[in-house]
Amino acid sequence: MPLPSGIKHVEELPVEGKRVFVRVDYNVPFEKGTKKISDDARIQATLPTLRHLIDRGARIVLGSHLGRPDGQVKPELSLEPVAARLAEILQIDIALADEPAGDGARKVVSDLRDGQIAMLENLRFSPGEEANDEAFARQLASYADIYVNDAFGTAHRAHASTAGMVKFVGEKGAGFVMAKEIDFLSRLLGDIDRPYVAVLGGSKVSDKIEVLDALLDRVNAIVIGGAMANTFLEAQGKSLGKSKVERERLPNARNFLRKASEKNVTVYLPTDVIVSTSLDDDTGSKVVSADQIPAESMALDIGPGTIETFKKVLGAARTVFWNGPMGVFEKPKFAGGTNAIARALADNKLALTVVGGGDSAAAIAQAGLADRVSHVSTGGGASLEFVQGLDLPGIAALRP
Ligand code: 3PG
Repeated sequence: MPLPSGIKHVEELPVEGKRVFVRVDYNVPFEKGTKKISDDARIQATLPTLRHLIDRGARIVLGSHLGRPDGQVKPELSLEPVAARLAEILQIDIALADEPAGDGARKVVSDLRDGQIAMLENLRFSPGEEANDEAFARQLASYADIYVNDAFGTAHRAHASTAGMVKFVGEKGAGFVMAKEIDFLSRLLGDIDRPYVAVLGGSKVSDKIEVLDALLDRVNAIVIGGAMANTFLEAQGKSLGKSKVERERLPNARNFLRKASEKNVTVYLPTDVIVSTSLDDDTGSKVVSADQIPAESMALDIGPGTIETFKKVLGAARTVFWNGPMGVFEKPKFAGGTNAIARALADNKLALTVVGGGDSAAAIAQAGLADRVSHVSTGGGASLEFVQGLDLPGIAALRP
C-alpha cells in the first residue's frame, strides 16, 4: 500500500528477530464499573500488524495508554484486562510489565523470545508520557530496534510514545491500522468526487468548531445534528426550551453560519426534533417543529422531517465524512436519527463514505452497518484533526 512522504509500511521493515516497539491505541471502553471490555474493535484492528510481526519472529513490545491517569498509577486503569483479551484472541501468553518503563519493563522485554509479545503497563502512569519527556522517550526507545506506530487514534498527541521516542529508534514505520487510516482519510483531502458532505453531531459546538470552520474550505454542504445543533438553532433566533445550548458559543455559531453563506456551503440544521421533558421519561416524547420547542422540553434527537432531508442530501453526495451522533443514541428512543444517518451512508454505494471514530463508529457498529461504508476510523479526535488538514505529530514522526 503506498504511503505518503516516504513513510515505510511495516511490511517494508526488516523485523525478523528484532525487538519491535508497537504503539497501539488500546484505549478501549469497559462496561461501567467492571473490567469487562465492551468493545474490542481497537484490539482487533491491530491483529494484522501483530500477526505479521509474529510470523516473522519479531520480539514485540506493545505500548498503549488507557484513559487519563494524568501521570499517576491508577490500578483501575491497568492494561491487565487488555493484555488478557489480546492473549485470548491470539491464543498465546502475553507478559505484562508492572510499569511503563524501568526495571520491571526492561525485564519483560529482555525475556522476550522470537515471535513473543510483551506489553508495557499503561504509558500514562508515567508523567513523562504526556509531557513528551526526553528521558522517558529514550527509555522506551531502549526497548526496541524498530518502531512501529499502529495507534492512529492517538496520532494527534505529541507524546513520548507517539512522537518523542521515534528519533531514538533506528527504523520506523506505520502498521496496518495506521496505513489504512492514512490511505482513506488522505482521500478526503485530495481530489474528491463532489458533492462532499460532512455530517457533524455530538453534544458540543466547542469540541467541533475548529473542524467546522476548516471544513468550510473543503465541503459543499454541512449537515449538523445532535445537541450541538441546538446552539446553531438558537443563533438563528429560535427558542430551545430546556435543550442543551452553549450560550458562550453563540458568537462562534453566528460567525460560522455567516462564513458558510459567504463560501456557498449549504448548512442543514434540524427543522423538526424529538423532544421530551426528561431523558428518562418513556412516555412523554413527541415530534415538534424546531420553531416550536415547548419551554419545558429539550431536543433529544432529530425529527422525521429532518431525517428525510438529511437522507436526500446524503443520497446525492459522492463523498461523506460523518462524526458524531444526531441525538442521545444510547437510548433507543432517541437513536432514530443516528441510525438513519448510518443507513443513509450504507445505502449510498456511489460515495466514498468515511465514519470518524468514537460515538459514530459505535453507532454504525450498533446498526450492524460498519462493513457497508468505505472506512470506519479507529480515531475520534485524530480523524477530526486529520480531515481539517492538520499535520498529526504521530504521523509526522514517521516521515524520513
Ligand atoms: C482516543 O480515545 O480518542 C484516543 O485514545 C486518545 O485519547 P486521549 O483523548 O485521552 O488523548
